[in-house]
Amino acid sequence: MRGAKRLTILTGAGVSAASGVPTFRGPQGLWRTYRPEDLATPDAFARDPHLVWEWYAWRRDQIAACQPNAAHEVIAQWSRGFERCRVLTQNVDDLHVRAGTDGLIRLHGSIWELACWGDCGAAPWRDEAVPLRAFPPSCPQCGGLARPAVVWFGESLAQSDLDAAFDACACEVFLTVGTSAVVYPAAGRVHHARRHGAFTAEINLDPTPASSAVDVALHGAAETILSDIARRLTP
Ligand code: OAD
Repeated sequence: MRGAKRLTILTGAGVSAASGVPTFRGPQGLWRTYRPEDLATPDAFARDPHLVWEWYAWRRDQIAACQPNAAHEVIAQWSRGFERCRVLTQNVDDLHVRAGTDGLIRLHGSIWELACWGDCGAAPWRDEAVPLRAFPPSCPQCGGLARPAVVWFGESLAQSDLDAAFDACACEVFLTVGTSAVVYPAAGRVHHARRHGAFTAEINLDPTPASSAVDVALHGAAETILSDIARRLTP
């Protein structure tokens, strides 16, 4: 990392775990209690928008009380310190935004943004109200139902984000941090970067499918390991 000009970091829920945001998989993961097909698909929303909104409202309440942790802070610092740094995140909590991260690509959107479910043409809008002002929230343009502007299972990522993530793989160092590396296309980026000659490293509590593909797998908490690396990089 000392000599690198282009750094890319892919992050997942594990980066926000120390802030108190629950992860999806693992012993305390959200998908242990809830089924993604009931809560995080367009079909689920079409079937029962109230139920889906209740779940998102609960998560918004939870996240609103959380602060960025040392992992977000180190990544934010690197995002400004390297000649080119790209941070690809699967997290919708915006804690990277709150830590002041430059070059951030939010692959799965933001829980703090809403969009028109009926696709009336309104641009997605920001709504940080906790609790929500109206339940379920509605589109300010057409008055129809609003949805969280996040990417659900079965939906495509924004083409501009996919392109940016593809370009970000042309780097010297690629770190995959706090992600179970099972959800594509995000999980594929580390392989792509490696094929393009990047030095790749994983930082995660547990081994993942990416562990055997990276140059070095460091197992431990992201907030501890990233702080440690940052200290060692300081001249
Ligand atoms: P997961 O919950 O699948 O994985 C989180 C990973 O972080 C696990 O491998 C944990 O071992 C690890 N972890 C937990 N605490 C950690 C810590 N303090 N330091 C380092 N690692 C830690 O979350 P994602 O990989 O982000 O998508 O999940 C990917 C996508 O699947 C999410 O964006 C979401 C989910 O379903 C959608 O909702 C579309």
